[in-house]
Amino acid sequence: MKQIRFPADFLWGAATASYQIEGAWDEDGKGESIWDTISHSKGKVANGDTGDVACDHYHRYKEDVALMKQLELPAYRFSIAWPRIFPEGRGRINKQGLDFYHGLIDELLANSIEPVVTMYHWDLPSALQKDGGWENRRIIDWFTDYAQVLFDNFGDRVKYWTTFNEPAVFTLRFYTSGVHFDRKDRRAGFLASHHVNCAHAKTIQAYRQSKFNNGSIGMTLNLGHVYPKTNSEHDRAAARTVDTVLNRWYLDPVLKASYPEEVLDYLAREYDLKIAAADYTLLKDNPMDFLGINMYSCFRPFVNSPDEVNNVEAIMRNMSSCRNENAQYTEKGWEICPEALYDLLLRVDGDYNHPVIYITENGMACKDTDVRDGVVQDDDRIRYLSDHFKAAHAAIAQGVKLKGYFVWSLLDNFEWLDGYAMRFGLLRMNYKTQVRSFKKSAFWYRDVIQKNGI
Ligand code: NOJ
Repeated sequence: MKQIRFPADFLWGAATASYQIEGAWDEDGKGESIWDTISHSKGKVANGDTGDVACDHYHRYKEDVALMKQLELPAYRFSIAWPRIFPEGRGRINKQGLDFYHGLIDELLANSIEPVVTMYHWDLPSALQKDGGWENRRIIDWFTDYAQVLFDNFGDRVKYWTTFNEPAVFTLRFYTSGVHFDRKDRRAGFLASHHVNCAHAKTIQAYRQSKFNNGSIGMTLNLGHVYPKTNSEHDRAAARTVDTVLNRWYLDPVLKASYPEEVLDYLAREYDLKIAAADYTLLKDNPMDFLGINMYSCFRPFVNSPDEVNNVEAIMRNMSSCRNENAQYTEKGWEICPEALYDLLLRVDGDYNHPVIYITENGMACKDTDVRDGVVQDDDRIRYLSDHFKAAHAAIAQGVKLKGYFVWSLLDNFEWLDGYAMRFGLLRMNYKTQVRSFKKSAFWYRDVIQKNGI
């Protein structure tokens, strides 16, 4: 079999997020986050699971870094819990929260593992949510103040920052699911996503002016390449709609300092929403250094009748109720389509002037039921990752500036509304005993890292 090798400076890693692994939800002065509220409300998370303990990483981070070392992981992407640093979201700083991340970052560096920090992975301080959360424009300053504290405290050692993880999810999806915030409000979702972009730009500005500004800073978007299900004119129109709302609405502001005209027209018409000229200037004056992409699957939109071509909800409903007969699906119900990673990378490269890109997440939820000699035989995960790595390699060969790749996830963890039912880890978690063990994919991934290829 042909061997493939990645560029010498390619950054391999694994990713996690604070609420999904840390536990210690109310310890050492941490404030409550919206995910504490959501998971503590009856009937929202599968099996009534909560992140109260999760992987107990807060107390076991040294053990986890030792496991990363065993895995020979060059980089580790994790997020900082805003309510550990500012229990009320703003104002008073909690020193014990800072100490936890000082300890983690030092432990990583002592083991030659590059820390890659996400500043916000969905766990908003509840106190800020009570004040309107991302809907309230004042959050632009609340977030920038929080980011400044992170730069001042950790900037001497952290050289890779991302402001946000998956705005599409924590703005529009949370605001329209009816589950997260007990209401459906599309207008608020759009407004929130614009505030996120402004907070991102202001944070970049703060980073450039901060004492330790010799690293790079970006944003992570969840993107999916869109293929019309059939070649009919209407399905192609539906594909453009999906791409505009799920991809371009997020890509354009951070890479072109603009928004898709079609969406702006819709927002003005339906909700009387307009973007201020000064906000475009803010976005334009503060470009980021790299784009993080979380990629898991693709979209295959289709419509039942021509009047659905602009109806995102109808198209999404169609897609979710129809499986692609020729494809395999993960435990999450996501179609496996590695070629979509290649197509997505080339498209972003071509349409957005060759940005530097990192795959900040890619991975697969598997059943993980085949265990031999204590090792989960997750050949399906290995195949998934291997096929996606090959697609990434092919994109690099076409000139895409892809600089690194982070597998989701280091270890099984709290998968949001699915609780612990979904397992994405390279390491198996026994949640009763808190014992972690390497799956077959972890050994395989170590080999990829050692060879810098497959
Ligand atoms: C995206 C999110 O960033 C992460 O938190 C989640 O667990 C994975 N995808 C898998 O769904």
